[in-house]
Amino acid sequence: MNSVVTAGKFITFEGIDGAGKSTHIEAVQAFLLARGKAVVMTREPGGTELGEAVRGLFLGRSMSPHTEALLVFAARREHLEKVVWPALERGDWVLCDRFTDATFAYQGGGRELGFERIASLAHWAHPDFTPDLTLLFDLSPDAAHDRVARRGELDRIESEAAEFHRRVRDAYLQRAEDEPERIKVLSSEQSKDTVRSRVLVCAQQLLAREA
Ligand code: TMP
Repeated sequence: MNSVVTAGKFITFEGIDGAGKSTHIEAVQAFLLARGKAVVMTREPGGTELGEAVRGLFLGRSMSPHTEALLVFAARREHLEKVVWPALERGDWVLCDRFTDATFAYQGGGRELGFERIASLAHWAHPDFTPDLTLLFDLSPDAAHDRVARRGELDRIESEAAEFHRRVRDAYLQRAEDEPERIKVLSSEQSKDTVRSRVLVCAQQLLAREA
């Protein structure tokens, strides 16, 4: 399936580890459910049985940057075919914790594979398909690292050097600059309530576009 019928909407949540995206996904879910939408919550890597197995490998094993990129795209295609596209065809709203912008940021930026390589994989795996809205939670890598460290043991990516996380953040911000209509940057330096209301304004604007 290359051209996807999307009666529903696809919203993705992005940011460096510790930037606080996960806390806001549930707020968007509640907001949409209250407005009568069917909502599917999912994540990457993951979202399917195969995807969750890939996630275990991805976070637990050491591998080359190219392998990382290929693995996440393999899991992504499965996720799109089995979960995301069927939900969008039904008219559901899909809220996805990370998607292809994460591969641009982590493998393209953090691992320095560059945007062009990631763009060609994206074109191969999901041509003409992109989120309707992406919320990018932005925080300085130092502050984000403190938050992650407080949560406990770090995974393979979280324990990368500060310089890696700086490249990931810069790559995310570059993506937002390249696609300002789709990618909305929300500074996580503000209070949780302020960020939450900005998040809901973005969701409301997308709902209004549908009407
Ligand atoms: P999570 O902690 O937000 O669930 O994400 C898992 C980790 O996987 C996180 O450190 C970011 C990383 N990741 C990539 O490196 N590339 C990708 O394409 C995706 C989706 C996640």
